[in-house]
Amino acid sequence: MRKTIVEILKNAGENFTSGESIAGKLGVSRTAVWKHIQKLRDNGYEIISNARRGYKLKDAPDLLLPGEIQIGLDTQIIGKEMHYEPSVDSTNRIAKALAYHGAAEGTIVVAEEQHSGKGRLERNFYSPRGKGIWFSVILRPNFLPHDAPKFTLMAAVAVAEAMKRFNLTAGIKWPNDIMFDNRKLVGILTEITAELAKITYMVIGIGINVNISREEFPEELQPIAASLSEMSGEEISRVQFFRALLEEFDKLYLTVSASGFAEVLKLWRDYNVTLGKNVRVISLSDGENFTGKAVDLNSDGALVVETESGRRAVYAGDVSIRI
Ligand code: BTN
Repeated sequence: MRKTIVEILKNAGENFTSGESIAGKLGVSRTAVWKHIQKLRDNGYEIISNARRGYKLKDAPDLLLPGEIQIGLDTQIIGKEMHYEPSVDSTNRIAKALAYHGAAEGTIVVAEEQHSGKGRLERNFYSPRGKGIWFSVILRPNFLPHDAPKFTLMAAVAVAEAMKRFNLTAGIKWPNDIMFDNRKLVGILTEITAELAKITYMVIGIGINVNISREEFPEELQPIAASLSEMSGEEISRVQFFRALLEEFDKLYLTVSASGFAEVLKLWRDYNVTLGKNVRVISLSDGENFTGKAVDLNSDGALVVETESGRRAVYAGDVSIRI
C-alpha cells in the first residue's frame, strides 16, 4: 500500500495529488491515506501537505525500502518480491526460512543492519545500520549442486558490473571477494539445499560496504576492509547502487539460465585480480595449505594453481595473494 502511495507521488513529480484521488486509487478512506503518509514521514520521506491541493513528495530517504527499490526496477525475476527489515540477525537466515516455505524465485531480503551477519567459514560479517547493502536472494536454478559455486562467481560479476555503472573498477579475488587496495569491499555467501541431482533452492547473500570510512570500521577490520565511498572518494546512494546491482544480477541470471556459465566465466576473468599471481591457498576440501601460481579458472569455476608438484584445481578454499 505504502509503496503504491510513493509510486503515485513520484509519478506526480512537482504536482500535488489530492488525498481523495489517492484514496480512490487504493480503495481506502482519506484518513487511511493520511495515516500511511504519516508512516512514510516516520520512515524519512519528506512529504509536503496542503489542505486544498493534497500531497507532494519533496525528498526520499536513502533507505532500502521497497518503494525506493522496486518502482521502475528493470528486472524479470530478481526483486519482484521483496522483504525489507530495519534490523535482523542475518538476511541469509531469513531467506532460507522463506525459501523452505516456498518463497518465489527472485525473492530478496534486505536489512538496514544485521546483528549476526554470517560470513564464510563461520566468520561474522560486520553489517552496521544504514552503511551498506546487506541482502540475500532466493534462486531455484535448474542446475546440479555441483554448479553452485559458479553462481557465486556470477554474483561477484554482477557486483562488478554494477560498480562499473558508478565508474568504479572492481577487482575480484577468487572466488568472490571484491577488493580495493588489497582490502575487501564485498563478501558473498552462497548456501544451498539440494537433492543429489538437483538444487532445491539457493540463497546468495551479498554484503557490500557502501558508505563506511576507514576509521568507522572496528579496529581489527581496518587493515582488511574497504568501502565503495572510500574507493570513489564520495558517498554513494545505496538505493541507486542496489537497484543497479539487482538489474545486473537479473541480466546475468537470465543468461546463465538460458545458456550456461560461459559469459559469466569470461567476465569473471576480465575482473579477476588472482590469475597470474603467486598465492597461498588453504583448501577447504582437505584443509591443506600450499603455495603456487594461480594460472587458470577451469570450466567448473575452480582455481588452477601451478605448484612445485604440478597443477592443482582448488574447488573451495581461501586464497591470499602473495606480494
Ligand atoms: C564473506 O565474505 O565471508 C561472506 C559475507 C557475506 C555477508 C552477507 S551480508 C547479507 C547476507 N546475510 C548474511 O548473514 N551474510 C550475507
